[in-house]
Amino acid sequence: MILVTGGSGRAGRHIVRTLVDNGLDVKAMGTSSRVEELKEIGVKDVCVGDLNKVSDIRESLQSVDKVIFISPAFSGSEFYMGKYFIDEALNAGVGQFVLHSAAHPCLSVLLHHEQKRRIEEYLMLEGLSAGLNFTIVQPPSYMYNFLSGFDQKANTYRSYYAVDSKLTFVDPMDVAEVVVKIVNEGDKHRGATYELAGTEYLSARELVDIYNDVTGSNAICEHVDVDTFLALYKLEDVYARAGFTAMSDVYSKYGLHSNSNVLEWMLGRKPTTFREFLQRTLDRR
Ligand SMILES: NC(=O)c1ccc[n+]([C@@H]2O[C@H](COP(=O)([O-])OP(=O)(O)OC[C@H]3O[C@@H](n4cnc5c(N)ncnc54)[C@H](OP(=O)(O)O)[C@@H]3O)[C@@H](O)[C@H]2O)c1
Repeated sequence: MILVTGGSGRAGRHIVRTLVDNGLDVKAMGTSSRVEELKEIGVKDVCVGDLNKVSDIRESLQSVDKVIFISPAFSGSEFYMGKYFIDEALNAGVGQFVLHSAAHPCLSVLLHHEQKRRIEEYLMLEGLSAGLNFTIVQPPSYMYNFLSGFDQKANTYRSYYAVDSKLTFVDPMDVAEVVVKIVNEGDKHRGATYELAGTEYLSARELVDIYNDVTGSNAICEHVDVDTFLALYKLEDVYARAGFTAMSDVYSKYGLHSNSNVLEWMLGRKPTTFREFLQRTLDRR
């Protein structure tokens, strides 16, 4: 049985579905009954729990031999969730551990990257000492962020970073495909760290241009300063606010580029483009 933490989240759902579609037994974890919905797509077991609680971590690991660890986005305790989860996974005798991290965790100016860097370091040291088969995957920004942030009523995409700054994106289905490959091929990926980026380097303005091209719409790309953005999304948590502010500063000033070579090698084909992602996702709506 493969446990996917964060299985009810946006990245997690793609991974869960792809594992199930490949005939693998999956247990999904989330904080709310939302995770129960995954039974409808063939998940064998679910665990409603909080990664901040060691008893919930232990419960999630029952009858599990492999783990895909996805931590919640923008949690101040993210490193400790990872640390205690790794400890308990080792105690439970888990045979394979896939850590879903982020591209460029060395960027300590990004709060959530620093938490992921520390989890990677902990997994590497404890995993090596225990002889654990572990693999780290590092996606950059997921393409779904665009649709999550798109205001359909106003036909507007509001960017919390400068609209001409470029980022690299990845299709969550491409990452899910690689995760299934890692799980199926087991020891071949022991100790590896894979940056999993798509091929394009796109600004918010270019994302909207592609959206308009695909849909025939006249959507607008608008920059909103980060405080307005946080108010818009009613983001109250102080750690999350600081995390978004740091992202806005770094993306606006530098952009963030990742390389697609590893993803192309792992998939055995070119990664999915943003245009293809939109066509596939909007067709299903
Ligand atoms: N979004 C991106 O572009 C991107 C790129 C690279 C890496 N990442 C990383 O990928 C991870 C997942 O991102 P996402 O976009 O899938 O986020 P998401 O959609 O917000 O999903 C978060 C998941 O974590 C669960 N969760 C939240 N708090 C928890 C807690 N205390 N204990 C246990 N589970 C908890 C949620 O459960 P509920 O469903 O019950 O709320 C949900 O399943 C994050 O660590 C993020 O930094 C994201």
